[in-house]
Amino acid sequence: MCGIVGYIGKRDVAPLLLEGLQRLEYRGYDSAGIVITGKAAAGKPGTLKMVKAKGRVRELEAKVPKRFAGTTGIAHTRWATHGAPSDENAHPHLDAENKVAVVHNGIIDNASELRAKLTADGVVFLSETDTEVLTHLIARAQAETLEEKVREALRHVEGTYGIAVLHADFNDRIVVARNGSPVVLGIGEKEMFVASDVAALVAHTRQVVTLDDGEMATLKADDFRTYTTEGSTTTATPTTVEWEAESYDMGGHDTYMHKEISEQADAVDRVLRGRIDDRFSTVHLGGLNLDAREARGVRRIKILGCGTSYHAGQIGAQLIEELARIPADAEPASEFRYRNPVVDPDTLYVAVSQSGETYDVLAAVQELKRKGARVLGVVNVVGSAIAREADGGTYVHAGPEVCVVSTKCFTNTVVAFALLALHLGRIRDLSVADGKRIIDGLRRLPEQISEILGREDEIKRLAAEYADAKSMMFIGRVRGYPVAREASLKLKEVSYIHAEAYPASELKHGPLALIEPAMPTVAIVPDDDLLEKNRAAMEEIKARSGRILAVAHQVQEKADHTIVVPKNENELDPILMGIPLQLFAYHTALAMGRDIDKPRNLAKSVTVE
Ligand code: F6R
Repeated sequence: MCGIVGYIGKRDVAPLLLEGLQRLEYRGYDSAGIVITGKAAAGKPGTLKMVKAKGRVRELEAKVPKRFAGTTGIAHTRWATHGAPSDENAHPHLDAENKVAVVHNGIIDNASELRAKLTADGVVFLSETDTEVLTHLIARAQAETLEEKVREALRHVEGTYGIAVLHADFNDRIVVARNGSPVVLGIGEKEMFVASDVAALVAHTRQVVTLDDGEMATLKADDFRTYTTEGSTTTATPTTVEWEAESYDMGGHDTYMHKEISEQADAVDRVLRGRIDDRFSTVHLGGLNLDAREARGVRRIKILGCGTSYHAGQIGAQLIEELARIPADAEPASEFRYRNPVVDPDTLYVAVSQSGETYDVLAAVQELKRKGARVLGVVNVVGSAIAREADGGTYVHAGPEVCVVSTKCFTNTVVAFALLALHLGRIRDLSVADGKRIIDGLRRLPEQISEILGREDEIKRLAAEYADAKSMMFIGRVRGYPVAREASLKLKEVSYIHAEAYPASELKHGPLALIEPAMPTVAIVPDDDLLEKNRAAMEEIKARSGRILAVAHQVQEKADHTIVVPKNENELDPILMGIPLQLFAYHTALAMGRDIDKPRNLAKSVTVE
């Protein structure tokens, strides 16, 4: 969702910015643009040169003229919020005199009000965007310096923003500001970068500074400084990004989705590494900031996330109830924050997010913190907003996930929850023997994941078998239900086949009416104490001539096809049972010719409401 890249230094800026935009393509966008400050004639201010294009970055690249030289610039990929995708609505936006250029992520809530006032003052708008309002406010600000002009403009604005600003009269700098939308500075040798995501920077520098909400920065070629929107200086200590630039490459795969599914054995190995404590049959999670006494005092756990992360949280809640016997549940963060939730001091809140930037999750965390709750983060992106806002937490160490559709982050997040559940369980009543049993199970996961991935050809054949379905049902009970929900989401978002997930126990309360040969069912059938119940559900479907694809630990007679997955401990089975269905969704979408890494209408980090 919307991306920003900026550069100031000595190098030719346009190719650098276009390459940066390409690295942000995965976030989802519909148009792109670039503006640079051209060379200033002696004693004269610089000029701004801009190109914008609806569509992909390669379409923008094709429009960039041969003579487009400069060493300072900002660029953007836009995901439409105010106004349809078009050249005019693409960022950057310029003022009437072509002096100020702004790129913006986020949403300005009072844009229509500001637009009306500016229009009444004679300003002519060229786009329908909220961002253009900011451009005119900066251009009209009376302040002397660019920093003060931006500050003055931001005082009028309500909403969220990550912005980068160029000004022809101040062409030795880029000014940036953050409120609710990520802004990361990249510190180079006599050159500085800015981006909304480290993915755009790591090819050039791994030294980064992440701005906080309410913070601004001025970037010059050999220097940067950070300060608040009120003007007081802040201290910014660069940190080193652990992910290499190569982790963002496709690595010989045709899509990121395939690459990321294939990486899961290594990714799970990484989240386990260094954390298992065999002596006490438990795990160390250094960043929780929750001592044993505090952990024993927790009465409930509430997990908050969106989409796939919410599903991972549902499995996490079950793991916590099973292993630690603490009542736990998961709720979409997007709902939680709007229902004036009762915030209980004995409840531990856990915010789960791959990107660590999802606005609804961040807003829920901020609301909880405001009410005095303790919040942990289960997050993939180190140093992201949610990770920094939380009181403690654990990283899921999946490595960068580029495909919009989450796969390896889901799996690693569930494993991270298993570690949290085991840790809490061993502080409470989980026995040494059960702790050891779970640890042994966790250690088996990477090999079992490789075994499942080794069946890709078989899964591909099955995907072809079911690809004619217009609609599919996914069912599971208790441990299998969140797996069914996640598998159904995977299929629908990447293939656009309609899919519904139901608890198998609910079939006869309504959805059974849908069953017919044209509506196949995917049934999650673990070999646990609900096996017979799941078989009974399959029986009901067969009696209505429904086709069934089972994911199970042994071949299911009632099913037309079974994908057999290796058995682990009952509690850990959900981690493995979703993986073949990621491949199933992938191959179905591939056979249908879908844009696998960038499904229509979706974006990676959803940094707006
Ligand atoms: C689906 C998917 C989304 C995200 C959701 C939350 O494959 O990736 O449902 O899980 O947008 O994103 P994060 O985890 O970054 O908070």
